[in-house]
Amino acid sequence: MDNIKGKVIVITGASSGIGEATARKLSLEGGKVVLGARRTERLEKLAADLRKAGGEVAFQQTDVTNKTDVQALVQTAVEKYGHVDVLFNNAGLMPLSPLRDLKVEEWERMIDVNIKGVLYGIAAVLPMMREQKSGHIINTDSVAGYAVSRGGWAVYSGTKFAVRAIAEGLRLEESPYSGIRVTNVSPGAVQTELPSTITDPKIKKQVEEKEKFRGIKPEAIATAVAYAISQSDEVAINEVIVRPTAQQN
Ligand SMILES: NC(=O)c1ccc[n+]([C@@H]2O[C@H](COP(=O)([O-])OP(=O)(O)OC[C@H]3O[C@@H](n4cnc5c(N)ncnc54)[C@H](OP(=O)(O)O)[C@@H]3O)[C@@H](O)[C@H]2O)c1
Repeated sequence: MDNIKGKVIVITGASSGIGEATARKLSLEGGKVVLGARRTERLEKLAADLRKAGGEVAFQQTDVTNKTDVQALVQTAVEKYGHVDVLFNNAGLMPLSPLRDLKVEEWERMIDVNIKGVLYGIAAVLPMMREQKSGHIINTDSVAGYAVSRGGWAVYSGTKFAVRAIAEGLRLEESPYSGIRVTNVSPGAVQTELPSTITDPKIKKQVEEKEKFRGIKPEAIATAVAYAISQSDEVAINEVIVRPTAQQN
């Protein structure tokens, strides 16, 4: 994990679940982590924990649906550590519902956070990474970005398909020329707070039960992110799917 030590790593959605677990892992491996999310009290506590363990950490309240916020998060990293090596575009939400229920505001929210939030992240670091001719953009995608399931997954899946398309476009445009590495980490069921945004009670119960009994720990995803970052610069891990062994799709 030597290639993590000293790297400046910006993480969105760092206040819980996969983002928090990844911040802990990368900080332990010697990364300088810069944490963004809306719940600053969570970020503050996490930052205190990491500092106590000897880590270098900064945090900034960030709503990824606001591009100025995302730029400010990256700016915090630049002011504190001089540049950014890795952006982990991880913030996301999953209010599942069937299309016929017309929860249009939830569709819009997923598009704003899961797609536009990722694009704002890319926009905030791309000029710098092109100039420094190095960098790594990692997105938390999903197995839902590879296959659509019945029962309320259409829009969420659509956002995750979109992230995969954007990441592949970014790789084709940038990797051969500017040395920027692009990785999509796609989890199956993971035990996090993600089902809390589901407003359909039946689907919420189903997903919560699935995650509780079958879901893997967010640390498993953190390990995959660390694996991708720790490769030497000429090696790009472009896609990683991490499922519970017992999960079918
Ligand atoms: N858990 C799973 O089974 C699973 C499977 C596949 C993919 N994923 C993906 O994993 C990623 C992380 O989710 P998780 O499972 O770790 O769930 P989580 O515990 O609910 O974490 C979601 C994170 O996203 C942040 N977030 C939500 N809206 C935001 C906004 N507008 N601006 C900034 N941050 C925002 C939350 O922070 P604040 O609320 O503090 O802002 C939180 O830190 C998501 O992209 C999700 O789609 C999860």
